[in-house]
Amino acid sequence: MSDTKRLLWRDMTVFDGLHELPEPMAVITRGSRIDTLCPMREFDESLGQGIRDAGRGGVMTPGLIDCHTHLVFGGNRADEFEKRLEGASYAEIAKAGGGILSTVHATRAASEDELLAAALPRLQALVDDGATTVEIKSGYGLTVEDELKMLRVARRLGERLSVRIVTTLLGAHALPPEYEGDSDAYIALVCDEMIPAAASEGLADAVDVFCETIAFSVDQCERVFQAAEKHGLPIKAHAEQLSNLGGSAMAARHGALSADHIEYLDEQGVIALRDAGSVAVILPGAFHTLRETQRPPIEALRRHGVPMAVATDANPGSSPLFQPTLMLNLACTLFRLTPREALAGMTANAARALGQTGFGCIEEGANADLCVWDIQRPAELAYAVQSGRLRQRVFQGEPTHG
Ligand code: NIG
Ligand code: FE
Repeated sequence: MSDTKRLLWRDMTVFDGLHELPEPMAVITRGSRIDTLCPMREFDESLGQGIRDAGRGGVMTPGLIDCHTHLVFGGNRADEFEKRLEGASYAEIAKAGGGILSTVHATRAASEDELLAAALPRLQALVDDGATTVEIKSGYGLTVEDELKMLRVARRLGERLSVRIVTTLLGAHALPPEYEGDSDAYIALVCDEMIPAAASEGLADAVDVFCETIAFSVDQCERVFQAAEKHGLPIKAHAEQLSNLGGSAMAARHGALSADHIEYLDEQGVIALRDAGSVAVILPGAFHTLRETQRPPIEALRRHGVPMAVATDANPGSSPLFQPTLMLNLACTLFRLTPREALAGMTANAARALGQTGFGCIEEGANADLCVWDIQRPAELAYAVQSGRLRQRVFQGEPTHG
C-alpha cells in the first residue's frame, strides 16, 4: 500500500470511540492514518480533490477491538454444554478434570498447523463482524512448549488475515494434571521458564492469570505478575468471576491493564481499579453461557469512573460465541450498559485494556482502522443482532470489505 493513498467519506454519522459526534462528518484517511475529520458544513469540496471517494452516509465507528479471547484451541466442549444443561456447574466440571483441562488435552495433541486451521474460521467470524484488533490468549498448553506453540499460532493468524493480533501468555490458567497437588511448583514453572521464554521470543504482549478457587490464589497470581514485571510485560487478570478473592485489587496494585469478568467485584475492588487506571473488562458471553446470576457492579464502576470494555471471551467452554456485535447487545440487555457504553467498550476502552494508544478512536492522527455500517444511528449496533450491516471494514487505511 502506498503511504499516500487517500480515501474520503462524506456525510458520516461518526461514533468516535467514546461518543456520537453531533453532526454529519467528512473523514479523510492518508495511508494508515486518519488525516482529516471535519463537519460537513465546513467541508470545502476542494479538500476532496484528487482523493478517492470511499462512500457517503451511514455510521462510521472505529474498527472493533475484541480485547479478550481464547481463539486458539483444540477440540470443542459441546459435551460439557450438554452436561451443564443437565445440571452440572462449570466449577464442578472443572474439579472433575473436565472444563479447561479437556481443552488442554486436545490442544496439546494438536500441531501448530492444526491449531491454526481450526482458529482461522473463528478469527474470520470476528473479522466479518467488524473486528480489526483481536487479543488472543494462550492457556490451553500449560507446558512451556505448548504455551509457546499457542502463541506462535496466534502470531501466525495475524499474518493470514487483515487484523491486528495482540497476544497474551495465560500460563496460569489451570493446574495441569502432572502438577496435581503442587500448584506452587507449577507457578514456579510459569514464572521461571514460561514467562522468560515467551518474553525472549517476543511471543507475548502481556501476561494474564486466572485468580479463582478453581485456579490460582491471589498470592500465586502475584508471583506471576512479579515475574512479568521483571520481563517488562504488562499484566491483566481473570478475577472475581466465580467468587470474590481480591484478585482485581491485587492486580490493580501491580498496575494491571485490566481486570476481566469481575462479576463478584466489590466496591473496594472498584476503587482499586479506579486508582490504578485499570480497565474493567465485562464479558457478557461467559455470563450468558454459564447462566450466571451475579452481575458485575456496573453502577459502581460508572460512579467511580472506571472505564469499561466489552469482549467476546471467545473460547470453547464458557463463551463459544464468535460475534463481537452480539456482545454489544448482551452487555446492554444483561448488564444494562447503554449502547454508547457498550460501543466505547469495544473501541476506545478496549484499546486501553490492551495498552494501545491511537487505536479504537476516530480522530486526526489515529490509526485508520474503521467500520462503516449500513445503519442510521450507532445505538442500532447494540439494539439489533443482525449480520450483513458491515458495509466496509478498513484495516490500516485499506478497505478489506465492501
Ligand atoms: O475467560 N475463566 C477462565 N477462563 C476462560 C474460560 C476458558 C474455558 O472454559 O475454556 C474464561 O471464561
Ligand atoms: Fe477468558
